[in-house]
Amino acid sequence: MNTSLLHEIAERVGTPCYVYDADRIRANYHALASAFPGAGKPVIHFAVKANGNLSVLRLLRELGAGFDVVSGGEMHRALRAGARPESIVFAGVGKTDAELVDALAHGIGWINVESAQELRVLSDLAVAHGRVQRVALRLNPGVDPHTHDYMSTGKSGTKFGVEPATALDLIARRRAFPGVAIEGVHFHIGSMVFEPEPYLAALDVALDVITRARAMGAEVDSLDMGGGFGIPYTADQVAAPVAAMAAALLPRIRAAQIDLHLEPGRFLVADAGVLLTRVLYTKQSGGTDYVIVDAAMNDLIRPALYGATHQPAPLDPPTTTERRAVELVGPVCESGDFLAHSASLPPLTRGQLLTIANAGAYGMSMASNYNTRPRGAEVMVEGGAWRVIRPRETLDHLMAGE
Ligand SMILES: Cc1ncc(COP(=O)(O)O)c(C=O)c1O
Repeated sequence: MNTSLLHEIAERVGTPCYVYDADRIRANYHALASAFPGAGKPVIHFAVKANGNLSVLRLLRELGAGFDVVSGGEMHRALRAGARPESIVFAGVGKTDAELVDALAHGIGWINVESAQELRVLSDLAVAHGRVQRVALRLNPGVDPHTHDYMSTGKSGTKFGVEPATALDLIARRRAFPGVAIEGVHFHIGSMVFEPEPYLAALDVALDVITRARAMGAEVDSLDMGGGFGIPYTADQVAAPVAAMAAALLPRIRAAQIDLHLEPGRFLVADAGVLLTRVLYTKQSGGTDYVIVDAAMNDLIRPALYGATHQPAPLDPPTTTERRAVELVGPVCESGDFLAHSASLPPLTRGQLLTIANAGAYGMSMASNYNTRPRGAEVMVEGGAWRVIRPRETLDHLMAGE
């Protein structure tokens, strides 16, 4: 991202703030859409949880994306960004009755059902509202995606989805659920997946369910493969090879004559964003060099939550080759408040600006007000200009309603 623009943004908007590059989001979208080309009719539903800012959603909607939502709140973000209701898929293990009624009332395209009880509740609610809701059953395919435990969602025993046998039982008894039309299966095996194999293994399970469902006369013709395509957070990682993944997956999907849906989040937006932060203080403690910046775990929780790496870098090129291993920490009163452990950085001084990479996904969307810290502004850079797409919160925002 252009350094002088970032300086200007830091001066005018203040720090910490999230800065997103619209062109990078477009390029990421086109890369994924061209990896999974038209013939198999893949439909990209952006996972709103990764970045729910309305300007980001509008940009993706204009590119042709639909949306994957996991709460009534995210559904309303997508709708407010102008999404067609039919382009929205709604997943989640714990949808409330109110959220289901809301989704029915808005004509949401797909509800990805995650338990037998949810199917019963949804069907009854749909009948009461005079609707037949299209659903996909979310499968737990029992696949290990080789990722962090907290990002692994398709292994046997996780809380997500239903076992294939349960899905088949529900499909066999589909006439007992007159408010729903079971037309698809769904899985999301986890995040930060870099290999085709776990998707292929999950696809095997899904195709088996679809084949058996069809043998029962059910018209199941849609597969939602979730998201999870990994991106490089560290220098030794490379982005998930989506073209190779598509080449491995698509022939089987086409042969089965099913429509493919995807739910990528971070692949589309992570590297399009940086968290811009300023050095508050430097100090030594017990032989450790600390750099204390004005961004903290409440602004970017991924390092504390997953031990994730988000590369920090000084905004201006260093004037020396000297590097020090420093603890990059924020002002929050927790020892777990760090942005980077042992970050190799040039000597830094008070007031210097740093960028924290890959903050376009799960940065602001996971931010909190812990320690009564107003969440930072969000800024979009586009065509050499920038604009604030969400101002910094104020203390009045934080205390409203108390
Ligand atoms: C159901 C579902 N779909 C899609 C995603 C997006 O994952 P990613 O951002 O890794 O692509 C998630 C992430 O948690 C999810 O739970």
